Amino acid sequence: MMQEHMMSNMRDHLAAINEILVYLGDGELDKAAETAEYRLGMSSLESHGASHMARFMPEGMRQAGTAMHRAASRFALKAQEGEVLPAYKAISEITSACVACHSGYRVK
Ligand code: HEC
Repeated sequence: MMQEHMMSNMRDHLAAINEILVYLGDGELDKAAETAEYRLGMSSLESHGASHMARFMPEGMRQAGTAMHRAASRFALKAQEGEVLPAYKAISEITSACVACHSGYRVK
């Protein structure tokens, strides 16, 4: 059940990154910021049940997850500042956290 829940979070993470890139490309930085904060950032923790999930994760995985949520909130701040290039740079910190966790952890 936890695995099912995590995988559906994951699919939403990917969809959120995609939406953020579309907003950035359209110059809608506020919407990009909002999507990042509420779907991936520190404000998403409650809605996707992070504290509940984290108990089932090894320590390193938990840290990778936290790094990803923090990077998303940092991106949201950058995007709100309205500078596109720094925002792109900040989004790569989110995707780096996705890659880092995926390279180290599997469900089975
Ligand atoms: C804390 C670790 C962690 C982070 C951070 C993380 N993932 Fe995952 N993700 C996983 C694990 C573990 C799996 C399952 C992989 C497996 O068992 O093959 C997974 C699977 C997925 C899947 C496959 C879902 C499916 O239905 O098959 C997608 C898509 C995905 N992640 C996207 C992302 C994106 C996008 C990000 C960053 C925004 C991200 N993940 C961040 C751990 C993480």
